[in-house]
Amino acid sequence: MTFDPRGKVAVVTGASSGIGEATTRRLATAGMTVYAVARRTDRLEQLARRHPTVVPCTVDVTDRDAVDALARRVRDEHGFCSVLVNNAGIGGGAFDGRGDLDDALRTLDVNVNGVLRCTAAFADLLEAGAPAFVVNVASVAGKLGIGPAAYAASKFAVVGFSEALALSWRSRRITVCQLNPGFIETEGFPQTQAKRGPMARLVGRPELVADAVVDVIAHARTERTVPAFYRAFVTLRHLAPPLYTAIARRMERAGGTRD
Ligand SMILES: NC(=O)c1ccc[n+]([C@@H]2O[C@H](COP(=O)([O-])OP(=O)(O)OC[C@H]3O[C@@H](n4cnc5c(N)ncnc54)[C@H](OP(=O)(O)O)[C@@H]3O)[C@@H](O)[C@H]2O)c1
Repeated sequence: MTFDPRGKVAVVTGASSGIGEATTRRLATAGMTVYAVARRTDRLEQLARRHPTVVPCTVDVTDRDAVDALARRVRDEHGFCSVLVNNAGIGGGAFDGRGDLDDALRTLDVNVNGVLRCTAAFADLLEAGAPAFVVNVASVAGKLGIGPAAYAASKFAVVGFSEALALSWRSRRITVCQLNPGFIETEGFPQTQAKRGPMARLVGRPELVADAVVDVIAHARTERTVPAFYRAFVTLRHLAPPLYTAIARRMERAGGTRD
């Protein structure tokens, strides 16, 4: 890392399992104080017992007051924040009609509005901690439009938000990155279907994404796809749409996020 993490402050949302938990462990091991955010207090406390620089924070990212209170706490305790990892997210179900609307709106509220609430609440603290980093965990589904439609919509929104913010926050010395994982096996995304089919070889582990977060911070990247080979699909989508569509149909059959 050219950025020296020791003694710096990070906030990781969705830290109670999967990618967020692995990222919290990784950043704490690198010497950072990590505010670990999620709703399941027991999980966060378990994590903090193993890593003394992890601070468990029971916060729902759909609750604006709770997110603002967390930012006030970090301000009072440290006065700055160097890394915000907006990772909290949920998968979406099929979007077949009226019956699925509440589920879709919930997905957007957590995955998109949650990112906006946290980024807004921590903006000044990040500026105080500059050079600072916002790592938004979007998805390959935010580049390709595959899988549950509302989930893809939420991740396209995070990709667009990240791309635009990366430009406008450069002058504040805050690097904003869209981090786009492919199939990763976690509690919320068990990848049961993917593991059964031709995509099985492509299913990765959360630690792969945690390592990518560290790489993003070390090299001040504004975009990272993990594993990197998924970038080939994104390129194919633009250069050879019919071939891409044929592959996407296979991925679509493999990639539901709920069992
Ligand atoms: N796994 C994949 O294949 C994959 C691929 C691309 C992108 N992603 C993205 O990666 C991120 C992490 O997912 P994961 O795979 O690690 O799944 P996961 O193990 O289910 O983790 C999701 C995390 O988000 C937290 N969370 C959910 N709703 C929340 C809320 N309202 N407020 C605060 N925290 C909330 C959960 O904690 P609590 O339930 O305790 O609140 C949990 O810690 C998500 O944004 C997901 O879309 C995953």
